Amino acid sequence: MIVQEALLKRKSVRAYLNKPVTNEQIKSILDLAKHAPSGVNTQPWKVDVVTGECKTRLQKKLLKAFQTGAPRDMDYQYYPLEWKAPYSTRRAACGLQLYHSVGIEKGDKDKRLTQWAANYRAFDAPVMLFFTMDSVMQTGSFLDFGMFLQSLMLAATAKGLATCPQGALAEYATLVKEELQIPADTILLCGMALGYEDTTAPINTYRTPRLELEEFVRFHT
Ligand SMILES: Cc1cc2nc3c(=O)[nH]c(=O)nc-3n(C[C@H](O)[C@H](O)[C@H](O)COP(=O)(O)O)c2cc1C
Repeated sequence: MIVQEALLKRKSVRAYLNKPVTNEQIKSILDLAKHAPSGVNTQPWKVDVVTGECKTRLQKKLLKAFQTGAPRDMDYQYYPLEWKAPYSTRRAACGLQLYHSVGIEKGDKDKRLTQWAANYRAFDAPVMLFFTMDSVMQTGSFLDFGMFLQSLMLAATAKGLATCPQGALAEYATLVKEELQIPADTILLCGMALGYEDTTAPINTYRTPRLELEEFVRFHT
């Protein structure tokens, strides 16, 4: 598959087949993603691959933390503290599309929460990935890491697999680090679901829109 196809095909997948992905498959994707560029070749990325009983245990703990209202302790501030247009509008549209695809009405808070909780099970994907970097790293390394993550998702797409990057999986950072024995002086950036797309699931049927080039590009001559 050429890069153009993978770029267009990749999407966030939130329902997976109960079909295992082998460690060889995972390694082959990571072996491609590691070619991502990074400032002075720091390669700040560290990856924890979680499957089997470890995944079940971690999912249970994450779900419990969410359901009991445990305080979130994300290692960095992902989103703006104060939302403003057009980002607030896009955010709302993104949520609406997702909930609409599974027939959840705008005001149905309970069903929305239940759907959101699926995040902590990585949408029942056979593989959960967790991404961390040393806490001495600064903002520039977040750029490097983003390139690694997109490379990984494109490589997975090219190999017939699906992904969903998940900030939600970094919300209980201490819990994840303890469970996976990741050093405390580490930034947990996000998680990712990896597996085979359930193409029959309504939640996987929609695509998110993108801006036209005129809306975000300026040419200077
Ligand atoms: C770093 C990152 C974190 C994300 N976190 C979540 C998440 O926690 N849960 C979720 O359902 N989607 C999450 N997403 C997926 C976005 O909602 C999705 O990328 C966006 O709506 C565009 O849709 P697409 O990926 O299908 O093109 C995340 C995406 C990124 C890049």
